[in-house]
Amino acid sequence: MNLCVIGKPLKHSFSPVIHNYWLRKYSKPHIYEKKEIESSFLPDIISQMKNKKLIGVNVTIPYKRNVYNLLKNLDINAKKSKAVNTIYLKDEKVFGQNTDGVGYCQALKQEMNFDVMNKNILVLGSGGASFGIVSELINRGVSKIIVSNRTLKRSYELIKNFKNKITKFEVMKWEELTPSSNTDLIINTTSFGMKKNQEIQVNIQNLKNSTIYSDIIYNPKKTLTMKKFEDKGFLTQNGLGMLVNQAAEAFRLWFNINLTKQDINEAKDLCEETY
Ligand code: ATR
Repeated sequence: MNLCVIGKPLKHSFSPVIHNYWLRKYSKPHIYEKKEIESSFLPDIISQMKNKKLIGVNVTIPYKRNVYNLLKNLDINAKKSKAVNTIYLKDEKVFGQNTDGVGYCQALKQEMNFDVMNKNILVLGSGGASFGIVSELINRGVSKIIVSNRTLKRSYELIKNFKNKITKFEVMKWEELTPSSNTDLIINTTSFGMKKNQEIQVNIQNLKNSTIYSDIIYNPKKTLTMKKFEDKGFLTQNGLGMLVNQAAEAFRLWFNINLTKQDINEAKDLCEETY
């Protein structure tokens, strides 16, 4: 093994399926594995990157913020989102980057032909994943972000972190989710929906027909909330496209290879077979 994903739990991760496919396709002699670790082991992972025992690491729940705090060298997206999902080596130094936001926006474009520029977007959640995505929405010229999180205080923390002169921000209470008619996109960045019977209570009465509901959860393939929106005639998207696109960005940082649309679609098809 020379590459891995670290996190806890990792049982449901599709990342090894994706990366091992590309590693074989591009004749790289490495294996990508899951490494379920405790947080006390994080400094050791960074040491293994330093001494090249590991050549690339992905970071997932719940360690993205921890790794951000441990690394000295951070790329701009990791800095802005205060979270690291990819560790790589550059000029003999260990770097942290966050490819979640770019991966998410690319999937939105590829699968829904949706561009976030000048749009009004309701973001559910204010955790690590939310920070990564909001950072990229702002990079791409979103008009307004409405944040809603179970713990209200964290919504204000997110706004404080990203406040700027151009983007409009608003907070909506989690218990009173009633998006207005000018909402173009709703993104669920929380983990609520991964378990059976978890349906987000959104009042959809004001929404226009073209509003898209997008979930970053990819397992289950269709969350209860996605199903609710679909049944009412809305277009929906799950998190598989984001997963594969953020993985492609990580692969580029590790190997300097720009994966093609075909590479991305093939990896996605393989994941589909894994469900
Ligand atoms: P991640 O890196 O995946 O974003 P995180 O930083 O722990 O992980 O954030 C998890 C997000 O899911 C948070 O927005 C969390 O809400 P709280 O800030 O209130 O904890 C949200 N979340 C987790 N379980 C939830 C639940 N049962 N209902 C509503 N939101 C939930």
